[in-house]
Amino acid sequence: MKNGFLLGAATAAHQVEGNNTHSDYWAMEQMKNTTFNEPSGIACDHFSRYAEDIALLKQAGLNTYRFSIEWARIEPEEGRYDLNEVEHYRKVLECCRENSVEPIVTMHHFTSPVWLIRKGGWEAESTVSDFARYCAFVVKELGEYLHYMVTINEANMGLQGAAIMERYKKQMMASAKTNVEGTAQVGMNFNAMMQRMAAQKAEYAEIFGTPDPQYFVSARTPEGDKLVMRAHQAAKAAMKQIKPDLKIGLSLSLHDVQCITGGEEKAAAEWNEEFSHYLPYIQDDDFFGLQNYTRSVYGPEGIQAAPAGTKLTQMDYEYYPVALEHVIRRVHKELPLPIIVTENGIATSDDADRCAFIRSALEGVENCIKDGIDVWGYCYWSLLDNFEWQKGFSMTFGLVAVDRATQERKPKESLSVLGKCLSDQK
Ligand code: BGC
Repeated sequence: MKNGFLLGAATAAHQVEGNNTHSDYWAMEQMKNTTFNEPSGIACDHFSRYAEDIALLKQAGLNTYRFSIEWARIEPEEGRYDLNEVEHYRKVLECCRENSVEPIVTMHHFTSPVWLIRKGGWEAESTVSDFARYCAFVVKELGEYLHYMVTINEANMGLQGAAIMERYKKQMMASAKTNVEGTAQVGMNFNAMMQRMAAQKAEYAEIFGTPDPQYFVSARTPEGDKLVMRAHQAAKAAMKQIKPDLKIGLSLSLHDVQCITGGEEKAAAEWNEEFSHYLPYIQDDDFFGLQNYTRSVYGPEGIQAAPAGTKLTQMDYEYYPVALEHVIRRVHKELPLPIIVTENGIATSDDADRCAFIRSALEGVENCIKDGIDVWGYCYWSLLDNFEWQKGFSMTFGLVAVDRATQERKPKESLSVLGKCLSDQK
């Protein structure tokens, strides 16, 4: 890797910190008809153990830590900021600086304060200014520590969720054999969601004041999709006013979209939905946050099941590390911005598979750099085995294992494999 390359690992607040009691996910995890396999609870107790975790990352030779700030901690009630929580994140950022680790901070990683969802969530016009106000507040308080900022993680996830729900309904009608759940690059229990939808409505109404809450990954309307983009733009403008040299981008979840004969049109439509239609909203950003885990292959009937015998990850999608190189090249053709791979990883219990995945993915990144593509960095998902949303703690993406009973950290071989990629700098 070239000098100055940002090589690191990523986490998200709700998945690792524990006790994010003011967030919408926390509330949904406690429901009688919840679709979460288990609640996040204390998660990885990263809220108290962040120093140990950052030190592990540093000792392995990594120089970057991507993590998120939890809006529901900073602003637990609309307009009331919690300065103790601000101080917590100040300490995390100081810890990064003391370890010469570059922080890449995400302002929104799926979870939102309950009050925001009660106001209409990610379909409500007011969310644009609410999000910008929160981001500006954080940069005013903590901007001195920040160089890189991701406004919204996987801004396309609501639209992807909507598409998967549609696929699901069609599949139920056709009783086809594709595993629809395995087409999502995130831990969601679509089966349970479809089955419990009706039963959840009354509980939702009680918590969020509506039977149909618009949390971040709810099936997004086209208007909501635009609203997410406007929230990104408003937040970017507000933060730039305070810190003009802050490098700001958003991230998208991108499959390596491929096709077999007859699937060309469907594959093109899918890529447009996942990526191209966002270009007008992101082309003036400072960088693009690229997130990729696997490929999806389209045929005349739509998405294809992985061929029999294909190696699948714990997430039920294909083990396909070369996807990353393909996606970087494709993005670069359409968007001439520097790229940071803000997530790429594999859920597996076999760390040898993870080591091979990392080597292959980073070889792809190097190939792209050699061909002149401006890739600023790579953050493996994830530093820790953590709370994989509705799938709970069963998916092990981490470079570091976490004992669920004692919270003891056990670094895996893959952590040092990733760290060595930096010392192999050419
Ligand atoms: C999300 C992470 C998630 C990861 C693995 C991404 O969709 O940003 O929060 O844990 O994928 O599924």
